[in-house]
Amino acid sequence: MVDTINVRSEKTHTASSASQGTITPHTRPSNCLPSFVRSIMSSVVEISDEPGQPPALSALSLAQTSKDSKAKEQVITPFDVSGGVDEQGKPVAIDYDKLIDRFGSQRIDKAILARFERLTGKPPHRLLRRGMVFSHRDLNLVLDKYEKGVPFFLYTGRGPSSNSMHVGHTIPFEFTKYLQDAFDVPLVIMLTDDEKFLHSPKLSLQECRRFALENALDIIAVGFDVKKTFIFADTEFIYSDHGAAFGFNILEMAKKTTNNQIKGTFGFNDTNNIGEFAFPAIQSATSFASSFPFIFGHNTKAVNKIPCLIPCAIDQDPYFRQCRDNAPRLGLMKPALIHTVFLPSLRGSESKMSASDTDSSIFLNDTDNQIKKKVGKAFSGGQDTREEHERLGGRTAVDVPFQYLTFFLEDDERLEHIRQQYESGKMQSGEMKATAIKELQAYVAAFRERRKAVTPEIREEFMRPRQLIFKSMPLVEEQVTAIQERRRMVLRELTLLDEGLARLLANGEAS
Ligand code: TRP
Repeated sequence: MVDTINVRSEKTHTASSASQGTITPHTRPSNCLPSFVRSIMSSVVEISDEPGQPPALSALSLAQTSKDSKAKEQVITPFDVSGGVDEQGKPVAIDYDKLIDRFGSQRIDKAILARFERLTGKPPHRLLRRGMVFSHRDLNLVLDKYEKGVPFFLYTGRGPSSNSMHVGHTIPFEFTKYLQDAFDVPLVIMLTDDEKFLHSPKLSLQECRRFALENALDIIAVGFDVKKTFIFADTEFIYSDHGAAFGFNILEMAKKTTNNQIKGTFGFNDTNNIGEFAFPAIQSATSFASSFPFIFGHNTKAVNKIPCLIPCAIDQDPYFRQCRDNAPRLGLMKPALIHTVFLPSLRGSESKMSASDTDSSIFLNDTDNQIKKKVGKAFSGGQDTREEHERLGGRTAVDVPFQYLTFFLEDDERLEHIRQQYESGKMQSGEMKATAIKELQAYVAAFRERRKAVTPEIREEFMRPRQLIFKSMPLVEEQVTAIQERRRMVLRELTLLDEGLARLLANGEAS
């Protein structure tokens, strides 16, 4: 009998990076959901998103309920992403379609793709076209306002749990960059070193801070525009004087968040530390433009009308369901969301992609040779013998190298051609692997080049609280006043420092 309850009974979770996952691949280059976005999971629990309390994780757990089977539920939470197992004990793919039903979000459909094309004047990003960006909440509301000239801002983030990021981590960021470029909007990127510290039994605060700074370099190398992007690490920003407005919003959100809500949304229990209970208010508070007066201005009433759009991997949804539930109680707008799927593990569905399992994923600092070796060993959908392959054809639905091509190969026609060749048995799995190796090497090499150019000075500029430059910036007048005020404060601080120094020197001479 399978445990259908997905609430952790003990503190067994680790600080696994929330943006990575276990998947079985089966994508197809089409405008609909990839088939890996469509498989498994049958038991549907009615979930109402809002109003009222967010659905409990227990209700959201993707359990298979048949008796005496080897079946194991899938788990999709910010702290654990692992695929399920079917009744015969075989791993199964994450069913993103069912996730949509259970989480109560909306599908990205053809109408939305057409809308993107109309608004941006360009074909939608390949991740949109191919269904890797598959679900949303209130995206249409944000786009309605945008069409009427009301700007929005983008918010995304990363929990810095390790030094190096893998190619899967770049997926939501690459999509975010596309949105920033296409809509010319400001972006805030949150590095939750506090979250990773609180949730990890092993990591020290210093380590998490260091990871945050390291990861910032990788994130910048995705290609964000410094004029429109503010990156911050929680442990630094929250406690700085520029973080005061953010701190206020955190407190407001914390006051509206009960322990019951957190237990229901995240499955925490009384053994979780109080920092873990408090953290969701921090991740939520970034959704409000008034947390960043240096970007959006000091007119709080006007600033609170700026909508927020959050591109994120689907595992982050519980945080924002919680946020959306509480925001109206603070008189604030609910953030809109747009969800991405996870990049499949190189091992196929059998195991979870993990930063600590170096053979499960391709890291952004892997060499060409490492990429070749890893993809060479990747799970293949090819048949056992050459003859059989020619007769039956390859299975693109489970072929990891093909899955990677659907994520990283830009050319739709070429992708479709490869799919046909493989499925008809004309292309062998060796050739499929060679093609994927070439594409991934090119993707990582391009990243490597951009990464080389990112200096600590550039990072410092991204992380400096400052006015960003975008389509509908706050009035110049308001910016001038804010800068003048800040200047007065800095001058006053300098005077005090000079006085202190003079006193110290005078004392030193006297003794
Ligand atoms: N909690 C996320 C993680 O562990 C980091 C994060 C914070 C985030 N805010 C976000 C991710 C907004 C996506 C969107 O990775």
